[in-house]
Amino acid sequence: MTSPHYIAFEGAEACGKSTQAALLATRMDAVLTRETGGTAVGARLRAILHDNSVMNLTPRAEALMTAADRAQHLAEVVGPALDGGRSVVSDRSLYSTLAYQGYGRELDVEELTIINDWAINACWPETVIFLDTPDELIAERLQERELDRFEAAGEAFHQRVIEGFRTMASGNTERWITVDSRGSIDEVEASIVAALTERGVL
Ligand code: TMP
Repeated sequence: MTSPHYIAFEGAEACGKSTQAALLATRMDAVLTRETGGTAVGARLRAILHDNSVMNLTPRAEALMTAADRAQHLAEVVGPALDGGRSVVSDRSLYSTLAYQGYGRELDVEELTIINDWAINACWPETVIFLDTPDELIAERLQERELDRFEAAGEAFHQRVIEGFRTMASGNTERWITVDSRGSIDEVEASIVAALTERGVL
């Protein structure tokens, strides 16, 4: 691979994104990072966003906090890495805002796209790997965990989020790769590597 590549992982909570992002970053010798919380400022924003005791945070405020996290992340981590010739593998991206705050919280997806395009200075992930998880499995996993503010948002919310990811993935198959998140870590990794190899990314 010659030029640096910007890849984001997307999907529901506990779908295995973080594990697969770390494996891919190692394979590509890429910078491994995440949204939200990929910078010191972002970590503080993330703490508020996930805090169950934060009541009445409006969807617009929530969306703007994720955009602020992203602007800082672009300036501090993603931009410098790409400019320096390193690829970037990020656990989530602006597509999470479109899925969670757009489809999930029902804010206007086009408005969110404009706000986020501005926040990241139009530096979008070139490839998005969507780990798709069957609906029953998402519900099951959410029952097993102690829930944070997002996880506690209810089944209908999470259903809208996952459908949002599916809609975005099927609407832009040049950028998105959908991978079944079931199967062992090795199996999922093999599917990701095969898809990226086919596209000439690896
Ligand atoms: P994670 O630890 O699985 O990445 O979880 C992050 C949570 O934050 C997850 O519930 C999705 C949510 N989130 C948004 O709602 N909007 C965003 O823009 C991002 C990046 C995350």
